[in-house]
Amino acid sequence: MNQNPQQKSEGIHKIRIGNVEVKSCVALAPMAGITDMPLRQLIRKFSSDCLLTTEMISSEMLMQNRPDEHEKIMAYCKNEYPLAFQISGHKPFMMAKAAKILADKGASIIDINMGCPVKKVVSGGDGSALMKTPQIASDIVKAVKDAVDIPVTVKFRLGYTAAEQNFFEFAKLMEESGADAMTIHCRTRAQMYSGTADWKAISTVKKEINVPVFANGDVTTVETAKKCIEESNCDGVAIARGVLGQPDLIHRVEHYFKTGEILEQPSLLEKIGLLKEHIQAEIELRGEKVAMQFVRKFYPYYIRGIRDAAVYRGALVQEESFPKVMKILDTILDKESK
Ligand SMILES: Cc1cc2nc3c(=O)[nH]c(=O)nc-3n(C[C@H](O)[C@H](O)[C@H](O)COP(=O)(O)O)c2cc1C
Repeated sequence: MNQNPQQKSEGIHKIRIGNVEVKSCVALAPMAGITDMPLRQLIRKFSSDCLLTTEMISSEMLMQNRPDEHEKIMAYCKNEYPLAFQISGHKPFMMAKAAKILADKGASIIDINMGCPVKKVVSGGDGSALMKTPQIASDIVKAVKDAVDIPVTVKFRLGYTAAEQNFFEFAKLMEESGADAMTIHCRTRAQMYSGTADWKAISTVKKEINVPVFANGDVTTVETAKKCIEESNCDGVAIARGVLGQPDLIHRVEHYFKTGEILEQPSLLEKIGLLKEHIQAEIELRGEKVAMQFVRKFYPYYIRGIRDAAVYRGALVQEESFPKVMKILDTILDKESK
């Protein structure tokens, strides 16, 4: 039976994942090339408690010992705890080895990617392809559980295609195999990122599952987070794209769940300030040349909604110098404050 949404909201700020107590029911969902240390640090500035996550780390790549490639993905600070490291792959022994390396590196939780829809990934049997091979998925969870002392979680979709929606049985199997929590992206693999996330589809999962379940997909505002919890009947929500340009979103959702109050979104001045911080942190991590290219993907989100956004976006993405980007950002502030 669905609880009264308000009662549910009031009772859901703490989630126990194995032996880790997370004092928040709102989590960051992993995004490759996006949820790196600089972005996580920005989110942590606002939310001291939410569960953060790295982007997926390929177990096979990790074994190849290419420190330069892995260093940036695995970089983190202790203030990010609780921090899940996500791994991808399809060979139980490799996944176990990768999990051990990451647990030794300081992960609070190991999350297993069973939802990535990208062709290159699924053609190798990784990501959402694991929903078609539930026995392998189960063996992976068991092997990873045996290898580490920290909690192990899984992230998957509704199923591979609309006709193969096996999330219910899959969730049960994951729990039986030892998963300490799960996140369900409420789309099928075939949908990739199109259409809308079907939160209602998973509303019955919690009746059968005793570990925490996070609903994921299309939560971009406090209102959508509330609706997602009400419709999915889950313990928490995991937000990915919604944090782009609004690293304070998780905090606003948490605040709403705790108090019922909807906080205002940051002003343009604050948003530009956050973007500057984001760029500076990326430069510290990657060096100016690489960072200035890397941050281009973030500009549209931070300047969304302002007058002449397309013009500024065009100017920003062509710029390779940090001081020049700062100058454009100051021009935006100057013009918008008039
Ligand atoms: C650019 C991008 C990269 C992603 N990388 C990962 C990843 O590394 N691991 C993963 O489990 N999901 C990944 N996802 C999926 C998200 O975690 C999430 O399930 C999906 O975007 C739906 O949630 P949202 O609507 O809140 O964005 C990625 C999504 C995007 C857009």
